[in-house]
Amino acid sequence: MRAVVMHETGGPEVLRLEEVPDPEPGPGETLVRVEAAGVNHYDVNERAREASRFPAILGRDAAGTRADTGGRVLVTGARGCYAELVAVSEERAWAIPDSLSAATAAAIGVPYRTAWWAIVELAGLAEGARLLVQAASSATGQASVDIGRALGATVFATASTGKLDRVAALGAEAFAYDDPRVGGLEADVVFDPVGAETFATSVAALARGGRLVTPGAVGDPTVSFDVWNLVDRQARIIGIGSAPAARATLERLIALASDRRLRPVIDRELPLEQAAEAHRLIEAREVFGKVILRP
Ligand SMILES: NC(=O)c1ccc[n+]([C@@H]2O[C@H](COP(=O)([O-])OP(=O)(O)OC[C@H]3O[C@@H](n4cnc5c(N)ncnc54)[C@H](OP(=O)(O)O)[C@@H]3O)[C@@H](O)[C@H]2O)c1
Repeated sequence: MRAVVMHETGGPEVLRLEEVPDPEPGPGETLVRVEAAGVNHYDVNERAREASRFPAILGRDAAGTRADTGGRVLVTGARGCYAELVAVSEERAWAIPDSLSAATAAAIGVPYRTAWWAIVELAGLAEGARLLVQAASSATGQASVDIGRALGATVFATASTGKLDRVAALGAEAFAYDDPRVGGLEADVVFDPVGAETFATSVAALARGGRLVTPGAVGDPTVSFDVWNLVDRQARIIGIGSAPAARATLERLIALASDRRLRPVIDRELPLEQAAEAHRLIEAREVFGKVILRP
């Protein structure tokens, strides 16, 4: 099969298309023919500094067909999805209906289960609550806006100025990162995947009893903020850990996306051989939502 293989950590150029042996599914695994693979910031981090075993094939999210039954599936939390074939544990594959395209299914995976875990399960977002999403243009941010809107929250969101029209089109009130109104939003829940550039404003934006959830930092992870903003409002900051791939959560997300009540945003689809370009675009902040690779 063809796969994007890396033999060392480094820049996007370490991602190269190669011919490799087909994966052989072990006990409890199924072989999936990949139609679409989602590119995540996690992959970018792995490529740049975290991968430890080589040769490595990146990619946690995909959608395609099972080689055994021909059934269509979403795959998330797997390894090696930047490929024509991937062997995955049955626990990491979810059946999808014909109404859900492969690209949309692949876009749900890590971003939507992370957003759901963060803002719904950990922060307890409820209908009618006020939600602030920093970097709504990021994959997890876009998913957070989408889930918040679908659950009936009032959603406020930030992004680079050139992306604000697209943020508003998601159904959120859009703000530039440095808009002074953001710190006064009194949000019940804040989702912050950015870090140093936004964190002080995220804390300032909390309502009394508010919850700030962070999945990590695309920017500088060393943050500072006025602790009295937290103390005075009895607010909490929650690090989300590694978002689980819970069966019931993915089934719910698939059902909501199939009914178009959730609408993952796909910035562009690229052929598998352009995986390096996908990483370059993400690192250059030229993406809104997801990049999908097509084998
Ligand atoms: N804990 C978990 O389970 C989990 C799961 C998924 C992701 N994460 C982490 O969550 C973070 C977000 O992931 P993601 O996949 O949503 O990110 P992403 O899609 O790659 O987000 C990229 C966007 O973030 C915005 N951004 C703001 N400040 C930035 C900066 N200093 N450098 C680069 N981009 C910046 C840019 O949009 P603008 O141009 O609009 O600013 C950029 O287009 C990452 O740190 C990732 O590792 C954790």
